[in-house]
Amino acid sequence: MADLRFNDEAFTMESLLFDDREVRFRAFEHRIYCADPVDPDHQELSIYVPEDYYEKGTIGKFDIHTAPIFMPNTIGGYRPGYFQKPGLDHHGRITASAIALYLGYVVVVPTARGIGLKDERGINTGVVPAALVDLKAAIRYLRHNRDVIPGDTEKIVTNGTSAGGAMSALLGCTGNHPDYEPYLREIGAADERDDVFASSCYCPITDLDHADMAYEWEFRKQPDAHTMRLSVNQEAAKENGITEEMLASLFHNGHPDFSKLPEEMRRAIVQRVPVTETMDLRQKHLSRDLAAMYPSYINSLNLRDDQGYALQMNPDGSGSFRNWIEKQVVRSMEKAVLEDADLKQYKWIDFHNDRPIGIDWDSFISFRTRMKPVPAFDKTGEPGSPENMAFGSLRIDNRHFTSFGAVHDVSGWPKAPAENVKLYNPLYYITDPRSVKAENFRIRAGAADRDTSLAVSSVLTLMLRNNGVKVDYLIPWGVPHVGDYDTGELFLWMHNLMK
Ligand code: DHB
Repeated sequence: MADLRFNDEAFTMESLLFDDREVRFRAFEHRIYCADPVDPDHQELSIYVPEDYYEKGTIGKFDIHTAPIFMPNTIGGYRPGYFQKPGLDHHGRITASAIALYLGYVVVVPTARGIGLKDERGINTGVVPAALVDLKAAIRYLRHNRDVIPGDTEKIVTNGTSAGGAMSALLGCTGNHPDYEPYLREIGAADERDDVFASSCYCPITDLDHADMAYEWEFRKQPDAHTMRLSVNQEAAKENGITEEMLASLFHNGHPDFSKLPEEMRRAIVQRVPVTETMDLRQKHLSRDLAAMYPSYINSLNLRDDQGYALQMNPDGSGSFRNWIEKQVVRSMEKAVLEDADLKQYKWIDFHNDRPIGIDWDSFISFRTRMKPVPAFDKTGEPGSPENMAFGSLRIDNRHFTSFGAVHDVSGWPKAPAENVKLYNPLYYITDPRSVKAENFRIRAGAADRDTSLAVSSVLTLMLRNNGVKVDYLIPWGVPHVGDYDTGELFLWMHNLMK
């Protein structure tokens, strides 16, 4: 049984360089945030506090009690969230948490369980809803220790990218909802609230039970899927003394996990190769059938724009919902032009006095290109997707999470119960009065990001706005599937929320 009291006397003094300035901070690391952890390495958090709060008392208008808390998660691909100190990431870029410290935020970095984790009995410990429950338990731990923990636990801002963006969205939509209570109790989470103040979501891979339809709605006219695969450069592997056996051990469920390799080794032997996969006739039929299901789903949501006009979808996928997304794309192009992007080269963009005013939708989509073959998320069989694994059970590695996937199954996978699928979809909670929503969201989905359809982040944005939540949404031009690329604007948004 882990002690849930926070010991504020045990810390190390550390520093980082940002903007040629030394930022000194206290690091309170590896605190287990639930009393009965299943996997203590992935159920702990670290707290980082600017030293100026101890020495000078204030940074700007904040002091050690009132500083907002920036809480990024490191979840990607529905894999476990790992420990990451503020500083440089593994690409050598300064992390958002380092900038947050520089600006006077208290930074909390929780780890969390995710796919691929098994205990000594072979039980899957990171399946739905483990990752979200862990992040909630981390928040409850902060509140449980609010008297000794630096920062204002009523001003928690979550941040994440991709699957981590989905988790950030879930944290913002499901605050204190009873659905998660049994799971929180199971790991001995503190008996506290877990709602948050604001949520920042980069390319959230979410609404998974409708993401396949959304993907085909967008990409059904694109028969070729263009992607990069990570593969091992066999010669380089040999030169580095890596045996076939060692290589085989990197694969799990048909997927390589190169994160097990030391950084230098990974750089030396892992290469990215472009692959193109063309749809066959069966896939064309799957694509057509999935795309045909999306309009009735979209129309069932009764979405409205900011003026209150209904956003709907025609059977062929056109209509006011698509026009709304088009407007977001045009808004993003306007910003890009102001920042000197050369968009005149694209003949499918309409200009008026050098200002972009419209696009030809189909040309825009073929410019984006399809990345994932059909179905994009709920695969019909081996190898499964990260999502099939996220919806696995304690003993079953892959499960379906859509009826469509289950009907077309070729691998004998069962379907996850609807109540489990719900636990990872923020949309179901937005209209539920039993969940406390974050007051503010910031959602970004790059115009060059094809890991999910632009419809997914659009629906999340619209549903939140239609339910009274403020959402800052943008489809930034030229941005692929990444996060934390516009930290200046991210922290400006946060700064404005704290006024
Ligand atoms: C991520 C990317 C995906 O394409 C996906 O399906 C799930 C997760 C990610 O980068 O986290």
